[in-house]
Amino acid sequence: MAKLAHAQWSSKMGFVLAAAGSAVGLGNIWRFSYLTGESGGAAFVMVYLACVALVGLPILVAEWMIGRRGQKNPINTMSELAHRHGRSRGWAMVGISGVLASFLILSFYSVIGGWSLNYTLGSVIGSFTGQDAEASGEAFNGLLASPKALLIWHSLFMALVVVIVARGVTKGLEAAARVLMPALVVLLIVLVGYGALSGFFGEALSFMFTPDWSALNGGVMLAAMGQAFFTLSLGMGIMMAYGSYLGEDVNLLSTARTVIILDTAIALLAGLAIFPIVFANGLDASEGPGLIFVTLPIAFGNMTGGSLLGLAFFLLLTFAALTSAISLLEPVVETLEERTALGRLGATLVSAVAVWLVGVAALLSFNVWDSVLIFGLNIFDFLDTFTGKILLPLTGLGAIIFYSICLDKEEARKELAMDVYDYSLWNLLAKYVAPLGVIIVFLAGFL
Ligand code: PFF
Ligand code: NA
Repeated sequence: MAKLAHAQWSSKMGFVLAAAGSAVGLGNIWRFSYLTGESGGAAFVMVYLACVALVGLPILVAEWMIGRRGQKNPINTMSELAHRHGRSRGWAMVGISGVLASFLILSFYSVIGGWSLNYTLGSVIGSFTGQDAEASGEAFNGLLASPKALLIWHSLFMALVVVIVARGVTKGLEAAARVLMPALVVLLIVLVGYGALSGFFGEALSFMFTPDWSALNGGVMLAAMGQAFFTLSLGMGIMMAYGSYLGEDVNLLSTARTVIILDTAIALLAGLAIFPIVFANGLDASEGPGLIFVTLPIAFGNMTGGSLLGLAFFLLLTFAALTSAISLLEPVVETLEERTALGRLGATLVSAVAVWLVGVAALLSFNVWDSVLIFGLNIFDFLDTFTGKILLPLTGLGAIIFYSICLDKEEARKELAMDVYDYSLWNLLAKYVAPLGVIIVFLAGFL
């Protein structure tokens, strides 16, 4: 294998933390629960879990392997590896669409990160105390209706991201994740416990795990697959970029398994925390992107020590969102830095301003621009749908196909430390199941 061109992660632990820091974020708690609610529950969850295992795992490993060999940013990595294997440099398109996806996702991700910041403050000043479903819904709608408030929180979130990236303290943040991620898990478990006492835990369990297959259609399947990509940070070149820092001693398969189990567990816990509150308060599970923000404050407002728990929860959620957001900004900054005369700081600022601007358009779509439609969707929904349902699956498909046709089989087998038998199973998954799965779901979603 090529000699490593740039620095490696100081340890395996450092790599796991960075990858988990990128994976665990708003996607697990905010996006997973709102999509589950909107898509009718268990059937969505089942397809999501199948996609994580059958599509997410092989693509995660493939992105890391490609990154580890390419040793460059995703665009140059794809272009050069393709060239080295006698293929067209047009494969760089996979890298380009990944960078585009990161850019677009960060723009609306930051808006939601802003909501999380706003709710952190809300816990501090005790605004949830005694709140019922109606008051909680009104508070959230009040936030949505105020372009000024949304703008302030979105700007604050982006500013935090920029400061972290520009000061290069990303590593410190990842180290903090070592303590804060388990804390988030503990808090979620407390909330699941609260839900279990609500008397509606059974409803929540069957909503999430007893599929009503009649709720399943191509659109739901595509949403579930898109969520698998989104939550694992796949199809954006981000894991590829991380792979380029990966030492040869890291076992890809077991690392991927660790990251995936953690990410999936957090999403399922979030669902088990949220849906009992939804049913106990007669709320609408298909409420949309506001779901966690109208449900959780009810719990925090009515349980002992709720203000403190609420504060801890939204702080940790914001923190998880920040570690994911910096990983979203990185590919955009890197691309600008390498292709323009801008230095690191300039590239960071220019990317951030551009992302921030698109974010402003997204947040206006909740109020003054709510009638501006792109393909029948408001700007926020369009960004979320276009990235999740189109860009990510196609980029991920490109990565896995590239892996299958370009990387040397015997080398890959050794790299994965598999015997011939296991490798043939793996190959079946990576070469046929994953790409065909993506293609079939993709087509089903559009036909
Ligand atoms: N995986 C993150 C989440 O679940 O919140 C979001 C994300 C981060 C998506 C980084 C993509 C990415 F490259
Ligand atoms: Na995630």
